[in-house]
Amino acid sequence: MSQLFSPFSIKKITFKNRIVISPMCQYSAIDGFATNWHLVHLGSRASGGAGLIIQEATSVLPEGRISPEDLGLWKEEQIEKLKEITTFIRSQNCVPGIQLAHAGRKASHAAPWAGHLQLDSSQGGWKTVAPSAIAFTQNETEPSALDKDQIQHIVQAFKSATKRALLAGYEVLEIHAAHGYLIHEFLSPLSNLRTDEYGGSFENRIRFTLETIAAVQSEWPSDLPLFVRISATDWAEGGWSIEESVQLSQILKDKGVDLIDVSTGGAVSHQKIPVAPMYQVSFAEKIKKETGILVSAVGLITEAKQAEDILTNHQADLVMFARASLRNPNLPQQFAQELQDDLAWPKQYERAQLK
Ligand SMILES: Cc1cc2nc3c(=O)[nH]c(=O)nc-3n(C[C@H](O)[C@H](O)[C@H](O)COP(=O)(O)O)c2cc1C
Repeated sequence: MSQLFSPFSIKKITFKNRIVISPMCQYSAIDGFATNWHLVHLGSRASGGAGLIIQEATSVLPEGRISPEDLGLWKEEQIEKLKEITTFIRSQNCVPGIQLAHAGRKASHAAPWAGHLQLDSSQGGWKTVAPSAIAFTQNETEPSALDKDQIQHIVQAFKSATKRALLAGYEVLEIHAAHGYLIHEFLSPLSNLRTDEYGGSFENRIRFTLETIAAVQSEWPSDLPLFVRISATDWAEGGWSIEESVQLSQILKDKGVDLIDVSTGGAVSHQKIPVAPMYQVSFAEKIKKETGILVSAVGLITEAKQAEDILTNHQADLVMFARASLRNPNLPQQFAQELQDDLAWPKQYERAQLK
């Protein structure tokens, strides 16, 4: 059996294979509520054979949404539809995961197909918040710098959303600390110019991350997996670095985080990313080797052999797919055929199997 199709367990959860559908915003929610689009999008990737699906960045507060059409979990009523989705995902022998997020200064933008520009209040947007009052680009309005009460309010919102995520039936929770959103904004010295205990030294810049994780852990059962997605580098001079990522990952491991989902970039608009197949894998490998924590690799991994090599070379423990799985929701089934492995198909589709 290939590594890719061997089961993998973290705490009490077993994934039937190592293929993870990476979180992907669908810009299809209404007032934070999931719709049938989410059910069909996530459901078809579950029936397509993935071991774990991590639902898109789901905001803990309305003002933490990237766009007005982002999913949210800031009120009880939002749980019901998500429960329908997790129930379906589980019926396909796939594990439902959720990514909790706050977009910080990158909130209040139009969906990609509507131009992805910052929205003002007349367009359904809102005033954004961040560690420091620095806009992401020159064309955007400055966010307001969070005061300490507001920071604590957001930490509590992560805690409450975690409670709701559990009620909705998710079995893996991922905290979004990457891509230039709020938590990453605190981590990066390029977006965090604070002079209080939340800025300056490494210990101060990671404080908000640690407080958020502690709040999440106070609600999330200790026998369910907790992931944190980080950007391992800002790809910009003077930014958050791989060395700091290793240091943070060690601390998170000691605090009981199970897996670091290793992405990169997103902090600043002048980043220079050397995009190429598997370009982020070496960061996952370094974090795994230097700390011993479980890691997932993501980013331009598109072929079964690439994923299998990543696992057999011990560069990562799970492999995530985003755009390749949008192109083909049955990607795991295709990969299983290529690696000559067995992967159960939904019985409704068995007659289509090429023997
Ligand atoms: C449509 C789309 C939406 C995305 N939304 C999210 C998101 O909600 N949270 C996140 O951490 N990353 C998000 N990403 C990034 C992906 O999870 C993934 O890290 C990235 O696309 C690289 O993987 P790939 O080369 O397999 O596409 C998104 C990517 C795409 C294409």
